[in-house]
Amino acid sequence: MTTPDLGAVFDAAHAEFAVLSPLLWEPIGAETTARSAPRPGDRVLDVCCGAGSSAFPAARAVGPTGRVDGIDLADRLLDQGRARAVAEGLDQLRFTAADATTWPGVDGGYDVVQCVFGVFFFPDMNIGGAHLVGLLRPGGRFTATTWDRTAIAPVPEILMDAIRDVTGETPRRDGPAPTERINTPELLTEWLTSLGLRDVEVTTYPHRMRLDDDAAWALVMGAAMRAMLMKLDAETVERVRARFTALLADRGVDELNATTLIGTGRT
Ligand SMILES: C[S@@+](CC[C@H](N)C(=O)[O-])C[C@H]1O[C@@H](n2cnc3c(N)ncnc32)[C@H](O)[C@@H]1O
Repeated sequence: MTTPDLGAVFDAAHAEFAVLSPLLWEPIGAETTARSAPRPGDRVLDVCCGAGSSAFPAARAVGPTGRVDGIDLADRLLDQGRARAVAEGLDQLRFTAADATTWPGVDGGYDVVQCVFGVFFFPDMNIGGAHLVGLLRPGGRFTATTWDRTAIAPVPEILMDAIRDVTGETPRRDGPAPTERINTPELLTEWLTSLGLRDVEVTTYPHRMRLDDDAAWALVMGAAMRAMLMKLDAETVERVRARFTALLADRGVDELNATTLIGTGRT
């Protein structure tokens, strides 16, 4: 998937993304910000910020003397974040539509750069990661949050089975999922270290989310899995939904393992 396509997928996903926020994105965003630990007055860059799950706790932590730049490609998620920042009176939080991999940064560098569920979408994770680390001041802290290798399964497999059962076609897989490069504490540690970071630490956050029928479908339609359905017409999507829901029940899947890895390091 190319970078602008990702913005289009997440734009289209905005309503279901919002359903997922309190169940999935926000607890993980809060835990990430607890690890990146911005201080009052800090300048924070939150890339791939979506609607601000980690940018909001960061903005509260830096307070009115600090600044948080939230960057994403999906305008409709950014609009959700802007509306909420106004409602909460958080002037220090600004949302901008931009590509994280070319964001120019600020004079003197950021104190903290954080990215929750984003680096694995970059066309080249090493180049994108190095660019972000280069936006830090000396001694600044980088945090990347990603899925543990046990997470999310078997939902994508069940969705692919449902699509195959309804359309007769097996959805194409473009090689290994990009998350696979950083989906264990060892791999994430190795990647962060390869970016030249010091004092690298990875913690495992064992989040779980209840999967009733609506939450399960929000998970499909509210994030990257949605891309598998975007070429299907509305009636076919409804049939996939029915089959997907039936398969989840047949296989006794009523909870999502959302185990997350949070890696930190400093320049
Ligand atoms: C799974 S969402 C996570 C959003 C947010 N971090 C959260 O946890 O709620 C991934 C986000 O990354 C964004 N994204 C992917 N590649 C990007 C890039 N190169 N620059 C900026 N945003 C990007 C997508 O638009 C999407 O909103």
